[in-house]
Amino acid sequence: MEPTTAPSGQQKDTRTVDTLTITDNRTGKQYEIPIDNGTVKAIDLRQIKVDAEDFGMMTYDPAFMNTASCKSKITFIDGDKGILRYRGYPIDELAERCSYLETAYLLIHGELPNKAQLEEWTNNITTHTFVHENIKKFMDGFHYDANPMGMFVSTIAALSTFYPSAKKIHDPQERMLTIYRLIGKVPTLAAFAYRHSIGMPYVHPDNELTYAENFLNMMFKVAEPKYKPNAVLAKALDILFILHADHEQNCSANAMRSVGSSHVDPYSAAAAAAAALYGPLHGGANAEVLYMLDEIGSKDKIPAFIREVKDGKGKLMGFGHRVYKNYDPRAKIIKKLADQVFEVTGRNPKLDIALELERIALEDDYFVKRKLYPNVDFYSGLIYQAMKFPVDMFPVLFAIGRMSGWLAQWQELLLDPEQKIARPRQVYLGYDKREVVSLSKR
Ligand code: ACO
Repeated sequence: MEPTTAPSGQQKDTRTVDTLTITDNRTGKQYEIPIDNGTVKAIDLRQIKVDAEDFGMMTYDPAFMNTASCKSKITFIDGDKGILRYRGYPIDELAERCSYLETAYLLIHGELPNKAQLEEWTNNITTHTFVHENIKKFMDGFHYDANPMGMFVSTIAALSTFYPSAKKIHDPQERMLTIYRLIGKVPTLAAFAYRHSIGMPYVHPDNELTYAENFLNMMFKVAEPKYKPNAVLAKALDILFILHADHEQNCSANAMRSVGSSHVDPYSAAAAAAAALYGPLHGGANAEVLYMLDEIGSKDKIPAFIREVKDGKGKLMGFGHRVYKNYDPRAKIIKKLADQVFEVTGRNPKLDIALELERIALEDDYFVKRKLYPNVDFYSGLIYQAMKFPVDMFPVLFAIGRMSGWLAQWQELLLDPEQKIARPRQVYLGYDKREVVSLSKR
């Protein structure tokens, strides 16, 4: 049965009388399993047993290829059609008509803010951009060439020691305070990590600037009394934050939920989510794209590179997605944005290699058959680089935008009465019981 649309415009939670009948060919027994929103509950399979001693049937789903781990009202993706919506709003409309902070409010609260709500929200985030002075000492402890994402992950975790009351995760006021703090402070931590890595003094937040402008200020201010951000670049960065804000149950959101399900404080859960994002198959891919374009070097080397990818000697980074089997809608927006940024910064010379790579890949049978299209990371790195962000900072930039999504996912998890501590099962294929042989006889 198709889910019907409720009068409010929300997808109705369809409790149907539909069932699935399963015949166990080992015993000949039949079972009727209820279907709920197009899913069957894995726990309903446990009744399927060959005898009373049997533990019962489980599902086996490494990498969660076909398992819904939650019910969510935050983000909708149709990977085949290339659709991405936050709380029902198409990503391109949000990118065009809203700011990142409006989008963050939408993700957390479920509705776009009115003027007064936006003012209050912006004020609350802006007044939480400063970090404790001791954070600077903590930053100073990192080696001079420490990777900024490693520093970022660690300092997010360290925040939990500054705000012990964040442990009260069932207190809505405490939760909201942490949400303000985390969204407010991540640009500061990110910029401090960068400044440390280049040996420059930290720049304090400037609360007269917008979220993106202030981040540029903390990154790039030198001796000028007041940093004047370029409006086009600040707007582009704000849009990039929107595009990265949430993506339903991706690897890092799943980490946020899984770690958060132990009821640890949200700083620790967010650090785990950021750590998941660090990986080259997730948020680290935008940096890998740049390394790949450098390695290719020139357009004439592309056919040889594609041949190597097809021979299994590497991946075309920034291509492919677990969910999108069509053009990633975010990549489309970023490709357009690149033109506006390059008008200010000058064209990134790697763009020509990227465009040609995309053209060749999209015509190649290997990529067509596997439905491999550019994802959000394919062009974002080119923009970041043109804006003078070092490649090591790319995953950090992704994490700043994604913080609001992680927090929305975390809050939804805590308020969901069906959720418990995340604890998967396993199929044990190791030894049966055996005796320890004494060391001299092994
Ligand atoms: N280049 C070449 N071949 C690829 C690529 C790629 N980028 N991505 C997938 N394939 C191939 C696989 O080798 C596989 O081929 P096979 O059927 O012959 O074995 C087939 O396409 C299916 O791919 P899977 O690995 O099963 O896809 P999965 O959903 O597990 O992986 C992932 C998705 C991790 C994103 C993958 O496409 C990839 O590694 N891409 C490159 C890294 C990247 O850009 N990551 C960013 C993702 S977006 C994000 O996190 C924001």
